[in-house]
Amino acid sequence: MRYIEFGANKTKVSEVVLGMMRIWEKTPDEVADLIECGLDCGINAVDTAPIYGPSEGKLGEAFAARPGLRDRVWLQTKLGIRPHPRVKANYFDFSYEHIMESVDNSLRALQTDHVDSLLLHRPDALMVPEDIARAFEELHAAGKVLDFGVSNQNPAMMSRLAHYLPFPIAANQVQISAAFTPMFDAFFNANMENDAAVMRDGGILEYCYDHDMAVQAWSVLQHGYFGGVFLDNPDYAELNEALERIAADHDTTKTAVAINWVLRYPAKMQALVGTTRPERIRQSAAACDWEMTREEWYEVYLSAGHQLP
Ligand SMILES: NC(=O)c1ccc[n+]([C@@H]2O[C@H](COP(=O)([O-])OP(=O)(O)OC[C@H]3O[C@@H](n4cnc5c(N)ncnc54)[C@H](OP(=O)(O)O)[C@@H]3O)[C@@H](O)[C@H]2O)c1
Repeated sequence: MRYIEFGANKTKVSEVVLGMMRIWEKTPDEVADLIECGLDCGINAVDTAPIYGPSEGKLGEAFAARPGLRDRVWLQTKLGIRPHPRVKANYFDFSYEHIMESVDNSLRALQTDHVDSLLLHRPDALMVPEDIARAFEELHAAGKVLDFGVSNQNPAMMSRLAHYLPFPIAANQVQISAAFTPMFDAFFNANMENDAAVMRDGGILEYCYDHDMAVQAWSVLQHGYFGGVFLDNPDYAELNEALERIAADHDTTKTAVAINWVLRYPAKMQALVGTTRPERIRQSAAACDWEMTREEWYEVYLSAGHQLP
């Protein structure tokens, strides 16, 4: 396993992170087994969020069932996505009151006294950076949160927040996979007249690189917005052939190659893997066993149907 130095605390956190969005059906014992499987492979990081249904509660029960387990992992949660009380949809809330309340609820559900990292989950149009900064400072002073970050935010949002925070923004959690590449597409097509040249995110990867932030890639095996897995998907036949070829060359799996591809970007990268199976956790950890060549990286990109100028 490889590790990055995370946030102001420079905590040693694994590049592969266990994402706990899909553990609805799991018993606390099974959740604890998944975490221990990750630890056996060197994965010391766990990501959750209150909007992931019973995820935080199950993690809390898993920690309670296995004494000492909580202290062996770096634990991250998020906040700010709330079910609307009247409209059948979620809305976003980064108010001071909600931040404080959400963290207390998360700590109670997770059965812990602190989280190692807290992310603002999806941008709230009504967010006031001074209010967020006040909440974060109080949470930090109380020892409830050690590092802070964002998710799905563009550089303008991050830079405004950074202006008011007394500590650096540690991470941005964004969607990246071989089949979901708008950030790379815009980069390659800079100064072109085609649609791929449209930069919708304002240079997130570049901002994170320049500010020494971790880029946490979510849904590293999915296409579209929760479109499904591209591995063994006939719509991505050429991509699967390329992954197979590279996997054979390195005596590994397509899963490991797909994750290696995401981690190859030269920033402080992390890949969040959402599998609920120990075998696939082991395959994911193997993504860190070697570094993809440039030729392999471009082979994956092109085989996924993307074009270069
Ligand atoms: N910040 C955000 O907005 C945001 C949004 C979404 C997710 N996230 C985070 O990112 C984490 C990962 O997201 P994700 O779960 O979408 O990631 P993912 O790892 O791309 O997808 C995991 C899903 O793919 C399935 N899978 C894996 N390998 C497979 C294969 N070879 N064939 C068929 N199915 C396969 C898994 O099934 P099995 O369980 O059966 O292996 C699981 O259902 C989440 O847990 C969450 O922590 C963050």
